[in-house]
Amino acid sequence: MTHPDLIAKYGGPVPRYTSYPTAPHFHGGIGPRTVRDWLQASRGEASVYIHMAYCKQLCLYCGCNMKVTNNLNVVSSYVEVLMAEMRMVAEPLPERLEVSTLHLGGGTPSYCPVSDLEQLIAVMRDIFMVRYGAEVSMEIDPRQLAEGMPEALGQLGFNRASLGIQDTNPEVQKAIKRVQPQEMNRRAVRLLRDAGVRNINVDLLYGLPLQTPETIRRTIDDVLELKPDRIALFGYAHVPWMKKHQVVLENYGMLPCAAQRMVMFDTAAEALKQAGYLAVGLDHFCLPSDPMGQALQQDGLHRNFMGYTTDAAPLMLGFGASAISQYRDGYAQNVSSPTEYMALVKNHELPVVRGIRMTGQDHARRAVIEQLLCSQKATAPDLTDLLVDSVRLKDLIGDGLVKWQGESLYVTEKGRPFVRVVASCFDAYVQPEGRYSKAI
Ligand SMILES: C[S@@+](CC[C@H](N)C(=O)[O-])C[C@H]1O[C@@H](n2cnc3c(N)ncnc32)[C@H](O)[C@@H]1O
Ligand code: SF4
Repeated sequence: MTHPDLIAKYGGPVPRYTSYPTAPHFHGGIGPRTVRDWLQASRGEASVYIHMAYCKQLCLYCGCNMKVTNNLNVVSSYVEVLMAEMRMVAEPLPERLEVSTLHLGGGTPSYCPVSDLEQLIAVMRDIFMVRYGAEVSMEIDPRQLAEGMPEALGQLGFNRASLGIQDTNPEVQKAIKRVQPQEMNRRAVRLLRDAGVRNINVDLLYGLPLQTPETIRRTIDDVLELKPDRIALFGYAHVPWMKKHQVVLENYGMLPCAAQRMVMFDTAAEALKQAGYLAVGLDHFCLPSDPMGQALQQDGLHRNFMGYTTDAAPLMLGFGASAISQYRDGYAQNVSSPTEYMALVKNHELPVVRGIRMTGQDHARRAVIEQLLCSQKATAPDLTDLLVDSVRLKDLIGDGLVKWQGESLYVTEKGRPFVRVVASCFDAYVQPEGRYSKAI
């Protein structure tokens, strides 16, 4: 079967599996009372995610949960509420948890005034014990990197920064309303590294309007000049039914189709491999010296709401609007709207509005799906019992995308782009007509 045939057969909508069960299956039956019980049973190590909900401008492709504001007082009030939420979450905890990973995402955390950020980190360090050597990272929009921010990040212990670059072609940048000259990227990387934030990640997108394999190739050359430690090469998720502003991107004619997207991904992946980067999971690349490269070689790679991670902490606490927490017994998500989030916390209520309690089978299936997404193989004594869609798996095997070897299931090199489809064979919740983004 040729690539276009495979795309036609398997390229339909499928979850991204940053959790299992995935977020569309969370429901309103999980609220503050359940979460208080889950917190009371939480001990040991945790990773912490803080969602900074605001940006200065809207990028037309954006699929993140964010609001635009030009008023920094709004951002400062939000940070006040984040600190209040942290104190509220700390109350039921039986002990001071040890933090192995701290990540500030968004929205645009680098848009936050330095003084607010300093207070936030101080409160977080007061409540939790940040482990020596923990990964402390922040998503940075190079267009919103105020003077003094790189130095403040270095002093606050940040050791990794993820820069949103997306594409360096000026025409593509105009189309997506994100004009960001390469000199701005160079400056951000230089200032951050000089300030001690040594590890640099870069986010790129393929599948945007006006992109071609040639423009992608040039973007990769620009990015290689920055010598990032990790690169995330995300397929643009076009979900205009959820993010209305994305519709504008359809004015540039047809968005790249699945076959074109695949050529773009392959072009970028090949260039990155030639430059010495290792391919990690679905869409990441890293230098062999990066902890992710080492984790890859030692089966230590994991996947959670932050995407691929080296962090193995089974407990993840998410703070801020829309943030998701992962407990031993299930997931809980905060209300998405920053306004509603702030109102609930100010009213001394945990802002949790949905989630899901996990069954024993959910735990077993999550382990299989995580193995597939991280290492393109799954091993479990009861693998066939966990299978939900054996017909589809048989098809995938027949088309040479997966194969059994003893008790293990392997995704072949040809099957690698379709690993989410393989994972969906073990998903007891997936709906064939569900509104997920496309597999390719
Ligand atoms: C919260 S944003 C990054 C931080 C910062 N706001 C910025 O844009 O530089 C995280 C990343 O999500 C990715 N992203 C945003 N919208 C997306 C979409 N519709 N499909 C796929 N990835 C998307 C982008 O690569 C972006 O850098
Ligand atoms: S991509 Fe980043 S900067 Fe752009 S709107 Fe989304 S979160 Fe904000």
